[in-house]
Amino acid sequence: MTRRILFASQKGGVGKSVLARSLSVALAERGRKVLLADFDVDQGTCLRWRAQRDARKLKPRVPTEGFDNPKKLGRPLRRYQDVVIDSPGRLDDTTLILAARADAILLPSSFSLDDIAPALRVIETLRRQKACMDATAIVFCRTGGSKPQEEQVRSILKMNGIPALDAVFPQKDGYSPLYATGRAGREAANPHLRAAAQTVDKAMIDFIDRAGLVAKQAG
Ligand SMILES: Nc1ncnc2c1ncn2[C@@H]1O[C@H](COP(=O)(O)OP(=O)(O)OP(=O)(O)O)[C@@H](O)[C@H]1O
Ligand SMILES: [Mg+2]
Repeated sequence: MTRRILFASQKGGVGKSVLARSLSVALAERGRKVLLADFDVDQGTCLRWRAQRDARKLKPRVPTEGFDNPKKLGRPLRRYQDVVIDSPGRLDDTTLILAARADAILLPSSFSLDDIAPALRVIETLRRQKACMDATAIVFCRTGGSKPQEEQVRSILKMNGIPALDAVFPQKDGYSPLYATGRAGREAANPHLRAAAQTVDKAMIDFIDRAGLVAKQAG
């Protein structure tokens, strides 16, 4: 069975495309057959990134395709083990359809309430739609490293029964040149940047693997 992993948000710039690329590379390194599905074709962030990656012949290869309609995912679903879906910074009808069919949903957010509040609204909408709630989690991205802010946000999420991954992906200028050259955070030459990215990648993969096990047990 192909796993569909959706990155979604109600607002732009929270880190969906960065984390979708990162997760795709990490899964491919583990030997999974991965498709990175770019549903934000207006921006085409992942498609541009793939072109850079291919031009440099970076390994592992990460097949990346643009989509404007969830129905068009049908064929690729048979060819890949994992489909990582990058969506636009709004919860439109297409993203809701993708959410209803997803095996795991990751919602990137910083520690700022300006980002957390829209993420909570996304979760409310997904709950109303009964979309994949057991396998939905916040993944902290673009954080400034403030422990008090982190604790405050984590306690708000806990009160609302919303899972969040333990690992956080910090905001660092050193990551930007990587994305422009078709790389992911885990491919940074700087060991600190590389380790931080790999920790988040592992946390995302562990979450997705656990979600699959829960679904299997429930089924
Ligand atoms: N951890 C980080 N450190 C430094 N820059 C980052 C980090 N995460 C993301 N960025 C940068 O922040 C910007 C927004 O990230 P990204 O494009 O992944 O967000 P998005 O949620 O996909 O946005 P949109 O909804 O507009 O597609 C990009 O320029 C990206 O390179
Ligand atoms: Mg994006």
